[in-house]
Amino acid sequence: MTQTASQASGNQGRIFSGVQPTGNLHLGNYLGAIKNWVALQNDFDCIYCVVDLHAITVPQVPDQLRQSIREVTACLIASGIDPEKSVLFNQSAVPHHAELGWIFNCVARLGWLNRMTQFKEKAGKNRENATVGLYSYPTLMAADILVYKATHVPVGDDQKQHLELTRDIAVAFNSMFETELFPTPEPLIQKTAARVMSLRDGNSKMSKSDTSDATRINLTDSAEEIARKIKKAKTDPEPLPETIELLEARAEARNLVGIYAGLAGCSQEDVLTEFGGRGFGEFKPKLADLAVEVIAPISTEMNRLLADHGAIDAVLASGAEQAAALSEPVLSEVKAVMGLKG
Ligand code: AMP
Ligand code: TRP
Repeated sequence: MTQTASQASGNQGRIFSGVQPTGNLHLGNYLGAIKNWVALQNDFDCIYCVVDLHAITVPQVPDQLRQSIREVTACLIASGIDPEKSVLFNQSAVPHHAELGWIFNCVARLGWLNRMTQFKEKAGKNRENATVGLYSYPTLMAADILVYKATHVPVGDDQKQHLELTRDIAVAFNSMFETELFPTPEPLIQKTAARVMSLRDGNSKMSKSDTSDATRINLTDSAEEIARKIKKAKTDPEPLPETIELLEARAEARNLVGIYAGLAGCSQEDVLTEFGGRGFGEFKPKLADLAVEVIAPISTEMNRLLADHGAIDAVLASGAEQAAALSEPVLSEVKAVMGLKG
């Protein structure tokens, strides 16, 4: 079941989420996930991870990967993740993720993984050539979450299926070893902008891996780039409608309204109350101004942080130490119930 953050705060759990260090973060990451991560850190015990072991499921250039880990970390801090409040680290620095990931490879069934749509999308036509890691990726994601016994996972809509698999693994493990060791974590999915679409095609997801940069707003884009991309965003000739129902069949218009709502922190209905009946010639400049207002300060702060690699590396090292102190006892418990240690 999908919950909102306010519902989750009733049972005070532990939050875990991750983002891949592959290229720059974009508006989809921000509105779909990171904005929520920032809000949650005031009320929850939060662990946020730059998932570099997930990134290597497809080939990476070592120097670029090193740089991306720092960039994504800087971007998270610039977006409002506070390393004093939350644990912030990179996945490969804590070996327990990979270790529990292997154990989960021995719990999850081929049939479960065969259903994962993201593997099918990412592997494309040449499936025989995909790495085994890309295929078993969701078991590592389950380990990321469960090695901290996290109860809530704020993600974009695209990760819902992986979360369901995580729950299946937790239930299967508990039942195989007659234990209550793992919780069944809940996804926390935003109501607005859970799935931000490409600016050039309202039916495909805004993504880091899209070859055209015009499809996304990067959190590092300058004010001019943001305004230009929004001006060029695909739309239809009709003015904005007065009601949500009339947006249904208009993928691009719906996406821009969703983005506006996400950035302004209001509902899509509110956006239509303000802009219903008005054309894109009027709406787009307002959207561009709002996007610049939210994104430009993140990009400025990120560049400031990136000037000092040592400081970013120190944040990651301290986060890894805190994370390992939390995951080590859980892995120990897992080994004990499995008969891997006395
Ligand atoms: P990734 O960049 O794939 O590591 O994703 C990091 C987080 O951003 C995950 O929680 C995703 O669900 C979320 N995310 C990625 N792309 C989008 C998008 N286009 N719309 C909404 N959320 C997204
Ligand atoms: N699979 C997620 C993505 O591609 C990233 C991720 C890895 C993650 N491990 C996680 C997200 C654990 C939440 C919890 O976006």
